[in-house]
Amino acid sequence: MVTSDFDKYEYYKKSVQTPDVEAQFLVKTFKDIRGTDVKTCREDFCGTFAVSCELAKLDPQLNVYGVDFDNEPIIYGNETNLSLLSKNEKARVHISNGDVLESGLPKVELAFALNFSYFIFKERALLKQYFQNVYNSLENNGVFLMDCFGGSECYEANEEETDHEDDGFSYFWDQDSYNPITNEAQFYIHFQRDGETKREKVFSYDWRLWSIPELRDILTDVGFKKTTIYWEGTDENGEGDGVYTPTEQGEDCESWVAYIIASK
Ligand SMILES: C[S@@+](CC[C@H](N)C(=O)[O-])C[C@H]1O[C@@H](n2cnc3c(N)ncnc32)[C@H](O)[C@@H]1O
Repeated sequence: MVTSDFDKYEYYKKSVQTPDVEAQFLVKTFKDIRGTDVKTCREDFCGTFAVSCELAKLDPQLNVYGVDFDNEPIIYGNETNLSLLSKNEKARVHISNGDVLESGLPKVELAFALNFSYFIFKERALLKQYFQNVYNSLENNGVFLMDCFGGSECYEANEEETDHEDDGFSYFWDQDSYNPITNEAQFYIHFQRDGETKREKVFSYDWRLWSIPELRDILTDVGFKKTTIYWEGTDENGEGDGVYTPTEQGEDCESWVAYIIASK
């Protein structure tokens, strides 16, 4: 049975985002690198701009911009995320419908792209155009932060289920295909609420899997002076502990997520 009151963005947020934690990480990382509090941020590929809204809550002096070329998540974000903010917080969140490849992105100290959204650019020239655009849109003390994933599991088709028992649903991250010649991979997100039929392909991602060295090379090509990799630590059970610190030595695990920070 499938009912119509299905809020795909709510299930997405519960499955793949922790906007408050991400906002704190962004602000702290900028301070670690620059020694000052960040005052202007931009969320590229912002979708429902949940992270932008959390950033606005953290500091009454902070302005945050968001850019996405799809109006559907922006409208949803206005109704569900922005509407929860105070008047002062709302006034510091500026969302626009636009293409991150176009020039004229809002000028900021910290730009960020999360949930691997830039994997949509499969050609080096296109990814370079985006990174150049980011570089040009940063203040002189600017920093660009993005996430990246990899590991041996990414080089084969597989589907992973996460049971969100308390919320009564399962989340499925489905890598449908992988082409070792192009590094292109097709991913889907499926959801299944308890007692209901599985909702297939609620979100779909046709991506190229970029490696950290490839990304660093392009970031350097467009002018960034330094790139730093933040790698996740491990807990006593050998699992990721959610704490990311700078390093040049990663662990060769089956599946990892890291952050790349490029400084102007
Ligand atoms: C994977 S979602 C990420 C949403 C959110 N940033 C997050 O962390 O979950 C990718 C978003 O990028 C947007 N997008 C894709 N290409 C874009 C482009 N060239 N310019 C602006 N937005 C783009 C899509 O509309 C979509 O909302």
